[in-house]
Amino acid sequence: MIVTTKKLFEMAYGKYAIGAYNINNLEQTMGLFKGNLNSQAPFIIQISKGARVYTDKSMLEALIRGADELFPDAIFAVHLDHGDVETCFDSIESGFYSSVMIDASHEDFETNIKITKSIVDAAHAKGIVVEAELGKLGGVEEHVAVAEADAKLTDPDQAKEFVERTGIDSLACAIGTSHGAYKFAGSQGVRFDVLEEIQKRLPGFPLVMHGSSSVPQDEVARINAAGGMLKGAKGVDADQFKRAAQLGVTKVNIDTDGRLVWTRVHREYFRDHPEQFDFRKPGEVFMKEYATFIEGKNVKLGSAGQLPFIWKELKAS
Ligand code: G3H
Ligand code: 13P
Ligand code: ZN
Repeated sequence: MIVTTKKLFEMAYGKYAIGAYNINNLEQTMGLFKGNLNSQAPFIIQISKGARVYTDKSMLEALIRGADELFPDAIFAVHLDHGDVETCFDSIESGFYSSVMIDASHEDFETNIKITKSIVDAAHAKGIVVEAELGKLGGVEEHVAVAEADAKLTDPDQAKEFVERTGIDSLACAIGTSHGAYKFAGSQGVRFDVLEEIQKRLPGFPLVMHGSSSVPQDEVARINAAGGMLKGAKGVDADQFKRAAQLGVTKVNIDTDGRLVWTRVHREYFRDHPEQFDFRKPGEVFMKEYATFIEGKNVKLGSAGQLPFIWKELKAS
């Protein structure tokens, strides 16, 4: 069943975070639903602009509708990831997305507010909820001076003003993470000090952590042993998800780690079966491994086992 992220956040706030997983194809979709049902977790399906054009946006919608029919016990939100104005309006008009993200974080503060507010007005008129971003994710180098690095992180005072003036439903914060496989060097990590300050100014308000892949070192080693070249890749410690959840993070975005599972499975499969050319063989392995991967993430997020309570709450409301 498709619900809004708002509904899921109300139930999760302060207790656990919900995994927001990107999909691009059939195998990911199957593994995603199975993994979430096996671990009895609510989840968020994320569709990026790139995913919408990889085949066609209608193909992804059809996949999700099909999975919803096939797995009627699943509870999830369908979310546009990092939307621009055009993609947000298209998604809102389609009526398929329960939630959209407008990412105008590259704009100055006032322009970000103006753009975000225009999306909020259109989305709320249709019962769709909105996530927006303040601050700039990623690219904070180890050698960058502290003040310079902090300038890219979300300013807690601005965060409060941004939420009040835009009317958004959740806020993506820049707290030290970045997208992709190369997040941290040396002693870098999630800036819990900044997160704590944001939560103090926005108590009870759902926060979102982008760039949350862990880039497991054993996964990287297996990929490299099978011909890959991922040197120095490093991510977020998944044992920190629950601490983030206690500080108001209700949504944790994970994409890269799933791509690593895909890469490892396919590299190893074709290395070990050089005579093979049936793509369904590694596809079967991937769907199984991806489901197991999702189950593991949900345990770290604390969302595993929450599904029965959510069904009960939804039926009562
Ligand atoms: O934040 C970006 C997500 O990992 C989606 O990536 O735009 O390549 O689909 P993508
Ligand atoms: P990762 O690259 O860490 O998986 O982050 C994904 C993300 O933030 C999608 O919006
Ligand atoms: Zn992101």
